This record gives sequence, structure tokens and C-alpha cells, in this order.
Amino acid sequence: MTGASSGLGEGIARTYAAQGRDLALVARRLDRLEALRDELSAAPGAGRIEVARLDVTDFDSVGPVIADLAERLGGLDRAVINAGAGKGAPLGTGKWRANVETVQTNLTGALAQVEAVLEIFRAQDRGHLVLMSSVAGQRGMPKAQAAYAASKAGLTALGEGLQAEFAGSPIAVTILKPGFIETDINKGVRSAMMISLDQGVAELVKAIEREPGEAVVPAWPWAPVSALLRYAPLEITRRMV
Ligand SMILES: NC(=O)c1ccc[n+]([C@@H]2O[C@H](COP(=O)([O-])OP(=O)(O)OC[C@H]3O[C@@H](n4cnc5c(N)ncnc54)[C@H](OP(=O)(O)O)[C@@H]3O)[C@@H](O)[C@H]2O)c1
Repeated sequence: MTGASSGLGEGIARTYAAQGRDLALVARRLDRLEALRDELSAAPGAGRIEVARLDVTDFDSVGPVIADLAERLGGLDRAVINAGAGKGAPLGTGKWRANVETVQTNLTGALAQVEAVLEIFRAQDRGHLVLMSSVAGQRGMPKAQAAYAASKAGLTALGEGLQAEFAGSPIAVTILKPGFIETDINKGVRSAMMISLDQGVAELVKAIEREPGEAVVPAWPWAPVSALLRYAPLEITRRMV
């Protein structure tokens, strides 16, 4: 699980830890991961929990860190590529760093993680790759959301390509497309369509366990919204941020 130090990644890690699963958790904030590991490991029936610091934009370190964790756990059944950033600013306003950082984290960083995970899955000839994309990847978004939406569209396309490549094989690829779930990434966002972290995590875990090709989470109202977004006129999408 990448991006396990807060929000959805932490929540999914907590759920799987309570089921006694062995886990490898990474993020940049190692102190939070260590505190989480200590807490979860102390529960009765806990599995093995390994943590490591990883900045997914430090591309050269992604492969070695993931390979080391897989070795420590004796293999890798599933990888949830979840680390993500939601920074952004209207393009051409001088705040390009925020946009570049978002794309480097959500797309290039995810690509580096997928490379590392698939090396392991190919050697094992099995595994479940889960990509945390977004409903925002369904359609280009204006202003501060432009780079984020593009990064998630890229991640979805990457997942679709892998689904075509591994169809019928023991390697499964799931693309998750959450709507609005209450986490740090949504600080300050107000929406009637926002659901709580607990509900979001529960629905995401349910979706992951089904191992679908893709899942919009929660399905209502986001599945129809997500489908409509593909065809919505610019008059609608230009008001979306
Ligand atoms: N919440 C939503 O409504 C929503 C909707 C659609 C998609 N998503 C996606 O869900 C994922 C998780 O986000 P969240 O909502 O749980 O927000 P969050 O609480 O801000 O979590 C983001 C996680 O990503 C990690 N991360 C960020 N940059 C990183 C980097 N360079 N290297 C390694 N880890 C990095 C953070 O850990 P550190 O800071 O410790 O590194 C943190 O654990 C993201 O991919 C996000 O795009 C969320």
C-alpha cells in the first residue's frame, strides 16, 4: 500500500490489518507509518506489518524499496498504488511547480510503482494490481484541477492498457475511481456528494476484494455522474471547479 500515512491508504491498511493480513506500508512521513505499525501490530491476531519511507517522485528509489518490502514479506499478493497529490493551480499563472508535482506523483510516480510491482508479479506469475485513479480522470477539468485530472486520466489509461495486456492471465488489474471522500486531499472542499472517510474506505475495500476491472466508489451517485462527465458539454465542465 503506497500513501498509507493518511486518508484512504491508512484506512484501507487499518481494515486489512484487522483481518490479520501481512502488509507493507510506504509514504514519506515515516513517523506516521511507524506509529500506525506499532498500533496495528499490538492488536490480537495481527499479521506482519513492514514500513518504509518512500517518495514516489524519487523514481530511482521506488523499485528497490518495493522489492525490499516484498522480500521481507516473502512475496506480494496485491499492490495498491494509492500515493497521490492534489495540488494544482491554473496553468500559466507561474505556479507550475504545484502542477508538475501533481503529475510526477500521480502519474510518473505511479508508473514507477507499477514497473516495480509488475516485475514481482511477472516473476510470481500472479498478483492483483490496484490503481487509485479518480472520477476526475473521466474528463479534463479547468483551472486548479487541470493537472490533477490529466494525471488521473493518464493513470486510468495506463491501467486500461495493462488490463488488455494481462487479460486472461493470473495478473489482475483494478482501476478504482473514487468520487469525493473526506480526506486531507479534499480539505476545504464542500460538496453534498462528499462521503465520510469510514464509508469511503469500507466501499473501497469491498470493491478491491471483488477484483473488478474498474469500480466507481461510491457507485451512487458517482457511477452515472462519471459516465455523463465523458459527454457533458463544456458549459458544464467549465463550472466544475
Ligand atoms: N479523497 C478523495 O475524494 C479522492 C478521490 C479520488 C481519488 N483519490 C485518490 O486517493 C489517493 C489517496 O488520497 P487521500 O484522499 O487519502 O488523500 P491524503 O490523505 O492526502 O493521502 C495522500 C497519501 O499519498 C501520500 N503521498 C503524497 N505524495 C507522495 C509522494 N511524493 N511519495 C509518497 N507518498 C506520497 C501521502 O503520504 P506522505 O505525505 O506521508 O508522503 C498520503 O499518505 C490519491 O491518489 C488521491 O488522488 C482521492
